[in-house]
Amino acid sequence: MTENSRLTDAILITGAGRRIGLHLAERLLAAGQPVIAHYHHETEGVEALRQRGVPCIAADLESLEGVNALIQRVREQAASLRGLVHNASSFEKTAADPELALAQFERFQAIHARAPYLLNKALAPLLRLSTAVRADIIHITDIYADKPNPAFDAYCASKAAAQNLALSFAQSLAPKIKVNVIQPGPILFKEWHSAAAREAVLEETLFKEEGGVEALGLAVESILANHYQTGAIIAVDGGRRLA
Ligand SMILES: NC(=O)c1ccc[n+]([C@@H]2O[C@H](COP(=O)([O-])OP(=O)(O)OC[C@H]3O[C@@H](n4cnc5c(N)ncnc54)[C@H](OP(=O)(O)O)[C@@H]3O)[C@@H](O)[C@H]2O)c1
Repeated sequence: MTENSRLTDAILITGAGRRIGLHLAERLLAAGQPVIAHYHHETEGVEALRQRGVPCIAADLESLEGVNALIQRVREQAASLRGLVHNASSFEKTAADPELALAQFERFQAIHARAPYLLNKALAPLLRLSTAVRADIIHITDIYADKPNPAFDAYCASKAAAQNLALSFAQSLAPKIKVNVIQPGPILFKEWHSAAAREAVLEETLFKEEGGVEALGLAVESILANHYQTGAIIAVDGGRRLA
């Protein structure tokens, strides 16, 4: 790819193949914002983004090789970045078997903390080249980062690490780059959530309903629009953390 064909001021979204990440990619594109979509497994959503001319980059963020390959491909595709949204995630109850639990612990730390850490460091130079007054990094964590659920302890700890890193980066990358955190609550249940589990979660949520992807899209837009906000931790949870 030649220098002239590289994208300027694109937003890289990790885990953009489906669900919230795909919504964010489609939403930003609809607003005229160039996007680079990272994905894990091929989906119809990835193909649809590709058809719209979006550079789509496959990488397994659990491995260092995958993270380094993504960094390399982004450098090839982008002359500058307007933003970086850490959305890719893995979510499971902690296994009862200690060896399986350790494997989960390491996987969650790799995807939720190590990959964003390496991506922020490697891509900061491209973010500094943004023509925007300030560029953005958004860490999507979870209300569980502050209020852990012991059944998901390994997942929660990795989201807490991601959140803590965001606050360090807010300091080290200022003033050109803002770094903020969005903590979703029950935005979109996983396919495997039982009816009983959904009901129990919504019973603990002040608004008694699933938030939907729109709620997350609005939170991302609001951060991108605000030049004077960094190190903020924004819950989008229908009040679940208070219940
Ligand atoms: N949905 C909610 O209600 C909710 C609640 C709290 C927090 N959040 C947070 O909000 C964000 C989006 O939520 P979501 O429910 O849309 O997430 P999700 O469907 O669980 O996962 C997002 C993406 O991460 C990718 N991913 C998983 N493992 C990966 C790996 N090893 N390497 C690279 N990518 C990988 C997945 O790709 P594959 O499917 O191809 O593996 C998926 O497209 C996540 O950070 C999540 O933790 C969501």
